[in-house]
Amino acid sequence: MGPAAGPVPRSRKPVSAVTVRVPAKVNVQLTVGGRRPDGFHDLANVFLAVGLYDHVTAAPAEGLRLTAEGRDVAGVPLDGTNLAARAAVALAKRYGIEPDVHLHIAKAIPVAGGMAGGSADAAGALVACDALWGIGAPREELLALCAELGSDVPFSLVGGAALGLGRGERLTPLEVGGEFHWVFALAEGGLSTPEVYRECDRLRRAGGGSDLAADLPVPVADPALVAALAAGDAVALGAALSNDLQAAAVGLRPGLAATLAAGRAGGALAGIVSGSGPTVAFLCASASAASALAAALPTRAHPASSPAPGATPL
Ligand code: C5P
Repeated sequence: MGPAAGPVPRSRKPVSAVTVRVPAKVNVQLTVGGRRPDGFHDLANVFLAVGLYDHVTAAPAEGLRLTAEGRDVAGVPLDGTNLAARAAVALAKRYGIEPDVHLHIAKAIPVAGGMAGGSADAAGALVACDALWGIGAPREELLALCAELGSDVPFSLVGGAALGLGRGERLTPLEVGGEFHWVFALAEGGLSTPEVYRECDRLRRAGGGSDLAADLPVPVADPALVAALAAGDAVALGAALSNDLQAAAVGLRPGLAATLAAGRAGGALAGIVSGSGPTVAFLCASASAASALAAALPTRAHPASSPAPGATPL
């Protein structure tokens, strides 16, 4: 990131309050390469946005204020560590203004669930503050700020489907040829993403292998999976789903094995831990199959379909 971008170009009139809708994601492929010297892992990360949304509202205020509502908000920090607050501060700094805003997050995306809820809120806050403060930042500028905030944040901005390389932030859009129907089985409590990556590394070493980027191939997208997305073929997508973090997540949260088994027994085409978990995603043949599975699962579960658009001002 370069120096501050100078005075805010008042290209747009500041607005009184703006609400931005941001989607959750599921990783249909998460291939984890080795640990790099900077501590991150090389990834081939195929993101698919799903129609389960947080809403971030930015309203005028003196100083930075953060509030949240929703079933799981007890797990959401309301201080400067919140990714949405950090997004507002980063945008203000970039344009040399004060981060004066009241951010309110209405959460529907599971907290620490492996569905990029925090990343979604960061992308939502960026877009909302950009409009509130009348900045009109170029898209590339917003994407660069997103990448600084977290590996998954750029995808939350763009939505749809994309391949993320590097630590997941270098995006290439992917074609999606139809609607996919999912059920997300929620778990009580979250999983820490760094802890899941550490467990993945530990399992690799325990298996006699290396966990270092220098020793492992750079991950690539699975052509069968990319073709299944482009064709809108749920059966082929189900057969190609893969997540290298799944064994680590199930190791840390053994109850996930029973959730995976329940979804498969309940008629899902396939089931997979979403990202670093503990949410489990089941791909279903139709919207009605997804509703039926969501009702039948013993855990709290949400049906949702994909693709979904990225951060959208309402
Ligand atoms: O980038 P983000 O802040 O979302 O990453 C959270 C944590 O997940 C990192 O601190 C790191 O432990 C792990 N991570 C990783 N490799 C990636 C992305 C995330 O090891 N490519």
